[in-house]
Amino acid sequence: MQNAYLWWQTGIIYQIYPRSYQDSNGDGIGDLNGIRQRLDHIKSLGVKTIWLSPIYPSPMHDFGYDVADYVDIHPMFGSMADFDALLAEVHNRDMKLILDLVPNHTSDEHEWFKESRRSRDNPKRDWYIWRDPAPDGGPPNNWLSFFGGPAWTFDETTSQYYLHQFVTQQPELNYRHPGVLPAMLNNMRFWLDKGVDGFRVDVIWLMLKDEQLRDEPTNPDWNGVDPFGSLQHIYTQNVPGIHDIVRQMRGVLDEYDERMMVGEIYLPYDELVSYYGRFQPECHLPFNFHLINYEWDAQKVRGLVEAYEAALPADGWPNWVLGNHDQRRIASRVGAEQARIANMLLLTLRGTPTTYYGEEIGMENVTIPPEFIQDPPAVNQPEIADVVGRDPERTPMQWDGSANAGFAPAGITTWLPVADDYEQRNVAQQNEDPTSMLNLYRALAHLREEEAALRVGDYSSVETLTEPAEVPIYAYQRTHPDSDSFLIVLNFGGDSHTIDLSHRSPQADIVIATDMQRSGSVALNSLVVNPHEGLVLRLT
Ligand code: NOJ
Repeated sequence: MQNAYLWWQTGIIYQIYPRSYQDSNGDGIGDLNGIRQRLDHIKSLGVKTIWLSPIYPSPMHDFGYDVADYVDIHPMFGSMADFDALLAEVHNRDMKLILDLVPNHTSDEHEWFKESRRSRDNPKRDWYIWRDPAPDGGPPNNWLSFFGGPAWTFDETTSQYYLHQFVTQQPELNYRHPGVLPAMLNNMRFWLDKGVDGFRVDVIWLMLKDEQLRDEPTNPDWNGVDPFGSLQHIYTQNVPGIHDIVRQMRGVLDEYDERMMVGEIYLPYDELVSYYGRFQPECHLPFNFHLINYEWDAQKVRGLVEAYEAALPADGWPNWVLGNHDQRRIASRVGAEQARIANMLLLTLRGTPTTYYGEEIGMENVTIPPEFIQDPPAVNQPEIADVVGRDPERTPMQWDGSANAGFAPAGITTWLPVADDYEQRNVAQQNEDPTSMLNLYRALAHLREEEAALRVGDYSSVETLTEPAEVPIYAYQRTHPDSDSFLIVLNFGGDSHTIDLSHRSPQADIVIATDMQRSGSVALNSLVVNPHEGLVLRLT
């Protein structure tokens, strides 16, 4: 039965931020050989797919999301030979490797942009979005950068502005020019020819802009904090015509066997699911980020899951994400105890789970002293650095209790500080502790691998018959004709509750409890759920 499903449907995706995973050469920055040294850890998590944030040559104004050459490796991360060795070892372990593709913008040091800015009649001029100043000499329209300030920078060489929605060194490509997409598709083919298994595509829903560059309307619901939120981004996001571009990207993947692409898209469900492709296939997975920035409340999360299930097209495969390199870590958002519930939820919902490195040990956001802040939105907007800065979720992986947490040799200054809690929270220590978050993660991942119901089975919400009726418990069932059924019971609160699930079955066995201790058979008419407890129950 399992073979009817593809690897990107059944396997866990694990995101590595390469700068922060493992430093093998003592420069305080992670690299490809470091990742290669840690593949056994990744394999032990039951991960199928490794996604690497960008490893290409880059001046690092946005830590690699400003790509200067799409078909090479930044020497800081290693050589092409190191990459080939990593890819081979990943495949030897029966895992997959996907790269981050950043098609919306290049670095200003990319050859295309260097040419484009040279003169108004350069053949590459219109590969980027250039406009004359407004009559008052200011930017051509009111568009904003995600990272603070206008989305336009004036270039003295040709006296025009160019568009960039991120840092000024990330000029936006113009996908209305017929030369741009074919060139980007060839960059994809370069890596696919090497055997890379696919791509996570950066800001795929932003790749097209309003042709008339109309001003964006103000946002009446703006909370007054991040200026980027003061406009409704109707002319820079999800613009008509975008699906044609995504379809053509998908077409390249379909030239090969079983490759995949997952798109970075922050949109409401009705729009998000259109990126599966309404008429022809688009993304294999449009990332579902809705658990991020959502209220951590049992009934609200239940509603969210149901809204997603209802919005999915018949052939759209679901996916869930708890965190990434742009978002506060889950353990900091919901607390250490609830982070266990979150991982149980992630690994037992229907669909492909994505885990951000370090979430398997409950790593938390790290407060970065002002003098160490590096992330551009925080550097550009120090007054709201706490809200927009992403350094806190990008700190070095905590491998063991030695200096620099085993990430880099002792005595080295790491590119971002190692968390203060690394002596208590690290992989080595959690390996030894049978009740650790790490061992909980592994147990959940392995159960998922073994049981068709959890891997590919149906989802149904389960009512908890209880007095008082409203308890902070979310329960659901996973079923599949080829395997036992499972009930998942998650207590989102700090009190214990006795609930009745006997309408599903009189009796069940505890297979995994979040404390990694509770076990045995339980009567479902009076199931005691402890504070912050999650249970995976096998129906008997
Ligand atoms: C989204 C990426 O996830 C983020 O890290 C980056 O800064 C922007 N895109 C720009 O590439």
